[in-house]
Amino acid sequence: MSLLALKRPPARPFLPYGRQVIEDDDIEAVCEVLRGDYLTTGPTVGRFEAALAKTVQAKHAVVCANGTAALYLAASALGLGTGTTVIVPSLTFLATASAPFLNGAEIVFADVDPDSGLMRPQDLEDAIGRVGRADAVFNVHLNGQCGALEDIAQIARANGLKIVDDACHALGTAYIAKNGGASLIGENAFCDMSVFSFHPVKAIAMGEGGAVTVNDPQIAARLMRTRNHGMTREAGEFANRQDGFGADGRANPWYYELVEPGFNWRANDIQCALGLSQLAKLDRFLARRRALAVAYDELLAPYAPRLRPVARERSCLPAWHLYAVQIDFPSVGRTRAAFMRALAEEGIGSQVHYFPVHRQRYYAERYGVANLPGADRYYARALSLPFFASMNEDDVERVVRAVTKILRL
Ligand SMILES: Cc1ncc(COP(=O)(O)O)c(C=O)c1O
Repeated sequence: MSLLALKRPPARPFLPYGRQVIEDDDIEAVCEVLRGDYLTTGPTVGRFEAALAKTVQAKHAVVCANGTAALYLAASALGLGTGTTVIVPSLTFLATASAPFLNGAEIVFADVDPDSGLMRPQDLEDAIGRVGRADAVFNVHLNGQCGALEDIAQIARANGLKIVDDACHALGTAYIAKNGGASLIGENAFCDMSVFSFHPVKAIAMGEGGAVTVNDPQIAARLMRTRNHGMTREAGEFANRQDGFGADGRANPWYYELVEPGFNWRANDIQCALGLSQLAKLDRFLARRRALAVAYDELLAPYAPRLRPVARERSCLPAWHLYAVQIDFPSVGRTRAAFMRALAEEGIGSQVHYFPVHRQRYYAERYGVANLPGADRYYARALSLPFFASMNEDDVERVVRAVTKILRL
């Protein structure tokens, strides 16, 4: 080894803003499926669905290819097609709007709280007022927090809106009701169905994967059919008696019937084996994430208000998906882009969640840009710092040291 190499401090691993935590037993669970008979839909799909439904205390969980497909399936199951209008908070990932839009619905963007990024009841009221009438709202539990769900549900119900919770950030989050009772996100106490994503930066990873949880068995059956081309093999559902059945009255073994055209949005046994193995670790992963959030909160407390964590919702026990802060970039004298580049040079990743969707090119050209000052203000200060379950408190310290050094706080 050269003298130079001896003097150089050991390279520290790059800390991305989020990543999966895969352990040996996760790998073994996947290998077991690979050695078996089913690579597409087999018994592991149903096992994962049962485990997920139990975890979030829903009656049914329908797993599918990813969170975007889950949002699409939810919109489709609620009949949100041509001639319907769906309200979506602007501070979210593209898919929350694009899924109902691709079903044929028109989108109206709602504003959000500038400090938490969550849609408030008055934001929903304002969006309904702007459009006159709407058919559904897709509420978003940004960063893993949920807002005033009872008030949002009350406004939605009074205006005839269905409610889909985009809970892609919020597996394990609980809502604290006004009467003090807690309900899990996904249990659907204040919505019609909930959508989850198991993308690798989420609380648990499936590679790609998503799910809808729902309590109505008929909607669950429709979701299952729609994720599989919209076809049925259930003889009791066949409308075409002539081709579906033989002279003896028995269903023909080859026959399947198209009820409504759909895509192939199934998740397979390989993905579900990983999902099942990861789901068993959810409590441990979430406890770690909570501890990391506390460590960040404590170390960053002296730098408020120029840099502070997103506002905490009192009606929520969050399962943090991101560690999101709000930075007053003009007052610290650095642009966000320069800050992110300087952080990257220190081996620290960061990301912005999100550029408001109402400002995205396609929607801006289609609908014009609504005045949503809360979304704009939240976005202007938003930054997500490294946050994943295999980080430790030393990593948090390293990030905070780099942040405060670069911002000269
Ligand atoms: C809020 C939100 N909705 C929907 C999605 C889409 O999920 P997926 O990436 O699994 O398609 C994501 C994923 O990043 C998300 O963060």
